[in-house]
Amino acid sequence: MPTLTWLVTGCSSGFGEEFVHSILARGDRVIATGRNAASRLQHFKDTGATIMDLDVTAPQADLDKKMAEALAIHGGIDVLVNNAGYIESGPVEELTPERLLRQYNTNVFGQVNLTRSILPHYREKRAGILAFIGSQAGWQGEAGTTCYCSSKFALEVESLQKEIEVFGIKCIIFEPGFYRTKAFSAQNFHFNVPRIPEYAEFNKGLRGFIEACDKNQPGDPTKFAERVIDVIKGEGLAEGKDMPIRLPLGSDGLEVMRRKCLETLKLCEEWEKLIVSTDYPVEKQDEKSS
Ligand SMILES: NC(=O)c1ccc[n+]([C@@H]2O[C@H](COP(=O)([O-])OP(=O)(O)OC[C@H]3O[C@@H](n4cnc5c(N)ncnc54)[C@H](OP(=O)(O)O)[C@@H]3O)[C@@H](O)[C@H]2O)c1
Repeated sequence: MPTLTWLVTGCSSGFGEEFVHSILARGDRVIATGRNAASRLQHFKDTGATIMDLDVTAPQADLDKKMAEALAIHGGIDVLVNNAGYIESGPVEELTPERLLRQYNTNVFGQVNLTRSILPHYREKRAGILAFIGSQAGWQGEAGTTCYCSSKFALEVESLQKEIEVFGIKCIIFEPGFYRTKAFSAQNFHFNVPRIPEYAEFNKGLRGFIEACDKNQPGDPTKFAERVIDVIKGEGLAEGKDMPIRLPLGSDGLEVMRRKCLETLKLCEEWEKLIVSTDYPVEKQDEKSS
């Protein structure tokens, strides 16, 4: 495969950081972006990556300007990895509109706006890949992280793919299970601000779960980045396969998707009679013509 130019968001830690190292190791070019790049992305200084300050929640006009700058660096971009994201937690009743909006600004609107910034370039060259980092949380809701789960459900990219495939542009959403990044760290995980005493026990349990989870996740983020790159470049275990619209990664991510599909099929079968009972009766052909 030819050398590709990648732009990755959220590179200060976790998957983003791993992407940068793995992309460079494959001989590709990468524009590593993040908030406060001057301090948070300095570890890439001598790696060959281009470092760029980019907060995905910036207004559309600022994102467009950043994208124009990024496109000028290597004369184009082949892969945009919409990776930046974080977890807002807490039961729905305790959430505030401000926290909900902050979550969506980063996890959904940021990704969509940056996608809008690059699409004119992709349309013009009739090529380009959009990779989104979704989550198994976008397949299975979990109590206490409704805000985050719903943001990942919102990222499902089927309709986008149907709009852009005519231009030769492809998109894919990866649905990771639990990986050992900083997502669950005290620094990056946004704990709920408790307000309602009746949720105190629930919040305690949630905090305990998150703390126990941190650094014990089954997934290795280095391998995650490697497999994502394999899929996009059609290499390794992905060689000879067409890039799918979505892909779970990690044994837990696979289990969630498989279980959801089986449950959904069972539901369709068990409830079929009631489900189809709301259609108008189908007129027979000879009745129509008479
Ligand atoms: N790890 C998992 O188990 C897991 C599972 C499913 C999905 N994911 C998804 O994977 C993606 C990466 O997360 P991670 O696991 O690698 O966690 P991480 O180590 O916490 O990294 C998250 C990255 O997103 C960046 N970010 C947050 N808000 C941003 C903004 N407004 N603009 C630009 N960058 C921003 C963070 O930058 P700062 O340093 O500036 O905060 C950080 O670089 C996220 O979308 C997450 O939802 C992770």
